[in-house]
Amino acid sequence: MKNMKRYRLIILFCLCFLAVANVNAQNDWQVPAKENENLSPFLFDDDMILEGRISYENSCTSCHGSPGQDDFTPMAPPPGDPASDQFQLQTDGALFHKIKMGRGTMPKFEDAFADDELWNLIAYIRSFNKDYKQELPNMEGVVIPEYSMKLSFDENIDKLVVKVFANEEAQAEVGVTAYVMGTFGKFLVGKAQTNQLGIAYLDVDPTMPGDEEGKLNVLVKATKGFARAKMESKMTMVEPTIRKSAIEGRHIWSTDKMAPVWLKASFFITIFGVWLVLLVIVIGLRGIKKANEDEA
Ligand code: HEC
Repeated sequence: MKNMKRYRLIILFCLCFLAVANVNAQNDWQVPAKENENLSPFLFDDDMILEGRISYENSCTSCHGSPGQDDFTPMAPPPGDPASDQFQLQTDGALFHKIKMGRGTMPKFEDAFADDELWNLIAYIRSFNKDYKQELPNMEGVVIPEYSMKLSFDENIDKLVVKVFANEEAQAEVGVTAYVMGTFGKFLVGKAQTNQLGIAYLDVDPTMPGDEEGKLNVLVKATKGFARAKMESKMTMVEPTIRKSAIEGRHIWSTDKMAPVWLKASFFITIFGVWLVLLVIVIGLRGIKKANEDEA
């Protein structure tokens, strides 16, 4: 009996120890020192936050919930709320490393997102921390070029052609992203890098709905490190959309065009018949009335 009690105690002790060890293991996500100090080569601006939000909603909300709402999915270890201290007290480099490499249930996003997209996510996560001040890498002696762009559309290859310049000089290896601005938000057209001639080609889906002249409102962004530029332009790129008036063509309520001749004919014959019956009745009633008067 005494032995039994001792066994129970030992088992209980072991369980407690395991639980504590497990919790410790969860919190103890080591990030290599070099990675921990890694800084974003981009300035976290509104554009980055917006892009980060889109990626976050597509890839992270399912587990981490909406930042600041503490509505992350309950699982072990808990994913945590990105607006909480658990996230915010870490360095940008640590967050970058963890999102990129993953651990256990936390997926590895290395292949899903390019580095600049990972930084977008961190810009978004940081937007929930009003005390956050971005630490920038040493920019001494670094000149940030001012980009300008030239857009055209090559209809032979269905590609948007973007040329990036700085001081009239073509810029190579610049990341170019293009969107189509629609009524309900913006749609990604594609991403590409400029070649040695400073030109990037982006595939355009020719089935995209344009306006009556086949024009699309495109937004093009060029980024490389801290250099970034934006340009919006209306360009003819797709087949024109012919908008039909609501009463035109084969709409159900467009009875005139929909109805075959026999249907129209029988409709009018029926109407005519009804009026004819009414007329006969009226004439009949008048006859009765007249007969009455004659009698009196
Ligand atoms: C399938 C669920 C799931 C998805 C999807 C997911 N996470 Fe996680 N995440 C977790 C879990 C679980 C943990 C805790 C992992 C651990 O501690 O071992 C975690 C941990 C993290 C951490 C580290 C938190 C800490 O305490 O150090 C960061 C940062 C993070 N996630 C960011 C993201 C981002 C950004 C995305 C979207 C791109 C994402 N996660 C998508 C489940 C997920």
